[in-house]
Amino acid sequence: MLNFKYHNPTRIIFGKGRIRTVAKEIPEGSRILVTYGGGSIRENGVLDQVTGALQGRDVLEFGGIEPNPEYDTLMKCVELARSERVDFLLAVGGGSVIDGTKFIAAAVPHQGDPWEIATSFGRRVGSSLPFGTVLTLPATGSEMNNGAVVSRRSLNAKLSFGHPSLFPVFSVLDPTTTYTLPAEQISNGIVDTFVHVTEQYLTYPVQGKIQDRFAEGLLLTLIEDGPIALKEPENYDVRANLMWCATLGLNGLIGAGVPQDWATHMVGHELTALYGLDHGKTLAVVLPALLSARRSEKRDKLLQYAQRIWGIAEGDDDAMIDAAIEKTRAFFESLGVHTALSAYGISNECIPRVAELLEQHGLTRLGERSDITPETVRNILELCL
Ligand code: NZQ
Ligand code: ZN
Repeated sequence: MLNFKYHNPTRIIFGKGRIRTVAKEIPEGSRILVTYGGGSIRENGVLDQVTGALQGRDVLEFGGIEPNPEYDTLMKCVELARSERVDFLLAVGGGSVIDGTKFIAAAVPHQGDPWEIATSFGRRVGSSLPFGTVLTLPATGSEMNNGAVVSRRSLNAKLSFGHPSLFPVFSVLDPTTTYTLPAEQISNGIVDTFVHVTEQYLTYPVQGKIQDRFAEGLLLTLIEDGPIALKEPENYDVRANLMWCATLGLNGLIGAGVPQDWATHMVGHELTALYGLDHGKTLAVVLPALLSARRSEKRDKLLQYAQRIWGIAEGDDDAMIDAAIEKTRAFFESLGVHTALSAYGISNECIPRVAELLEQHGLTRLGERSDITPETVRNILELCL
């Protein structure tokens, strides 16, 4: 096992009816700004639950944060938060609202150009406003980590950043808030969680038995409960398991003490920046191709994955790896998430564009061994068509 330091300060308040208790988590006397997206929380009553719980408190609202949160929108909120002297943010929504709120939290006290928060990968963040979240879409893990991804469409940029001050103070996880998710978002979220786990699991062995078995538990839960969530949208236990699974998939726990890849994500972010493709869909396309292209570097863990996740016990190494990749692809497709770029109308002209953006963003040595170059990415993308 590799050396590690693990610290996660986010308080999790989990379960049905827990939004009611949110006021207790926010310091008395705070000037609170509730941030949200395009309106789903108005329609499904989550906003009413939040404002009801905050009755008698000093509360402002900012709506309109879009999927793949946009810098220009976030800056409007930064101006509002500064002029109104807001001192606590409450993000209510999915990963985009939470990530956007992390950017706002860092940008409000920031001296200088706020875009450098993203271009410096968070290194320029000094302090941040405290914030909490009410999660409505299990996928990103943003509710219990200190990372975020923001987009600036005018620059074709989608950049991730992180900082120790960007963990939520608390996150309320009420699985019933996810009942109104469209099937497409549930599927995207399952794929996103799956790939968060594989980015931390499908690398090379370091005898991290606990991390491996936690990761395998999360993958098996997704495979078991993902399809049920689509068939039975109001199955509480299934929604509860998926929600906790997504949080544990990217809260640092399974990645502590083991190598991490993240190349699928970095390539995926460029595809979203160029074509607006949903995050989960980009991952469904890139992961199977990347696993195939990196089979020798990842051989031992791919074989473990084939055996422990998909029960594949026959054939030589390559046959087992091929079968495991095929099962992965079939699982994503069974959720309605396509695994080829052509299914999204994207042709091979994306290959030089993605490679160029990776160069531009300084993402030229990706993967658990830092040996995935833009040239390697070109080869991977050839397999995605
Ligand atoms: O905007 P509203 O109206 O709220 O609608 C949203 C949005 O259209 C809707 N939605 C959310 N909860 C709902 C709901 N609709 C009905 N009922 C509900 N309960 O779902 C749509 C998608 O929401 P979004 O927040 O964009 O999805 P997701 O949670 O998948 O977040 C994706 C973003 O997170 C980033 C991605 O790159 C992408 O920008 N990521 C963040 C990470 C992190 N912070 O650690 C890691 C991830 O790898 C990922 O990169
Ligand atoms: Zn992701």
